Amino acid sequence: MDGASIVDALLEVPVVPSFTRLGFDVRRRSDHWTSLSDYRMDGRTVLVTGASSGLGLAAAEQFVRCGATVLLLGRDAAKTQRVSDEIAARTGTAGLEVVVADMGDLDAVRAAAELVLDRHDRLDVLVHNAGALTADRRTAPSGMELTVASQVVGPFLLTSLLLPALRESSPGRVITMSSGGMYSAALRVTDLEMGADYRGSEQYARAKRAQVTLNEMWAERESAGDVVFHSMHPGWADTPGVRDSLPTFRKVVGPLLRSAEQGADTLVWLAADDGVPTQSTGRFWLDRRPRSIHRLPSTRRSDTPRRRAELWQWVSAAAGVSGA
Ligand SMILES: NC(=O)c1ccc[n+]([C@@H]2O[C@H](COP(=O)([O-])OP(=O)(O)OC[C@H]3O[C@@H](n4cnc5c(N)ncnc54)[C@H](OP(=O)(O)O)[C@@H]3O)[C@@H](O)[C@H]2O)c1
Repeated sequence: MDGASIVDALLEVPVVPSFTRLGFDVRRRSDHWTSLSDYRMDGRTVLVTGASSGLGLAAAEQFVRCGATVLLLGRDAAKTQRVSDEIAARTGTAGLEVVVADMGDLDAVRAAAELVLDRHDRLDVLVHNAGALTADRRTAPSGMELTVASQVVGPFLLTSLLLPALRESSPGRVITMSSGGMYSAALRVTDLEMGADYRGSEQYARAKRAQVTLNEMWAERESAGDVVFHSMHPGWADTPGVRDSLPTFRKVVGPLLRSAEQGADTLVWLAADDGVPTQSTGRFWLDRRPRSIHRLPSTRRSDTPRRRAELWQWVSAAAGVSGA
């Protein structure tokens, strides 16, 4: 183990230094990260969901600065167009497109995929970043619980529909923004959607666990020469999402929170670097290093081949995707 790996391992054990800007700063220096401004993505096309705020906005802007054509997917047409105009003004670039869809509305996801495939033969990077911790139980147009619909089923459908365009990139990349919150959650299928027992943080953790599991399962099914799959967590970053959903947490962690740009760093690196991120697939990342997907024996025990197979079957049926 080299010196940087020892420093990294010491940081990883307790969550607080690892997830805050302390972990980010130490790892950036000890691992000698290439600055994101050194990457070029000219001629590449990137679709970012949840691009109208926080981490998605920060990543989208960095992709534009790297020269990529960026498709901003947002659920609010006016807000997403405004963000697009602001990024264009700040970067002096016109290479931005807006796609409108609520990720929990499967008809809207299908329409968005059709639009993207009409306009682009090739998609180099698909970023599943849209997400929220919803305090009260809400349902999507299909009647499904909203967190699961928008962060598990909608992204699964979008990946399935865009695979032909991603395969044209050799390898295309699919990157999912999960959360360290998933460490507390077991892998669930029959009770993935909470009912009367709904608690926003628990529902969020279950959905984020499913995302990370499906990332590994996609990687097993798809040749890494065609498409690679990465999931990650951003640590704790100060975004409108955290301000709205976790005001007390934000107050306590305060100045130790990462900026949105720091939270999005590994996302941009996974999309832009042509080294390690194109040579590995199915892994879960924080701060440009792969991490274990389990920290607790109880969640590890829940993660059986049988339950994984049930999850794949369930999500394929829920998304209306056959043969995925
Ligand atoms: N910030 C953190 O510390 C942290 C930690 C762990 C994981 N994450 C994850 O990082 C991702 C980004 O979060 P953030 O902190 O940047 O929050 P944010 O500022 O609230 O941004 C979330 C983005 O997702 C969009 N979105 C939410 N639900 C959607 C839906 N059903 N359909 C389409 N778009 C939807 C939002 O659209 P609107 O602009 O219309 O609201 C917004 O663009 C999320 O997946 C979150 O779970 C964040």
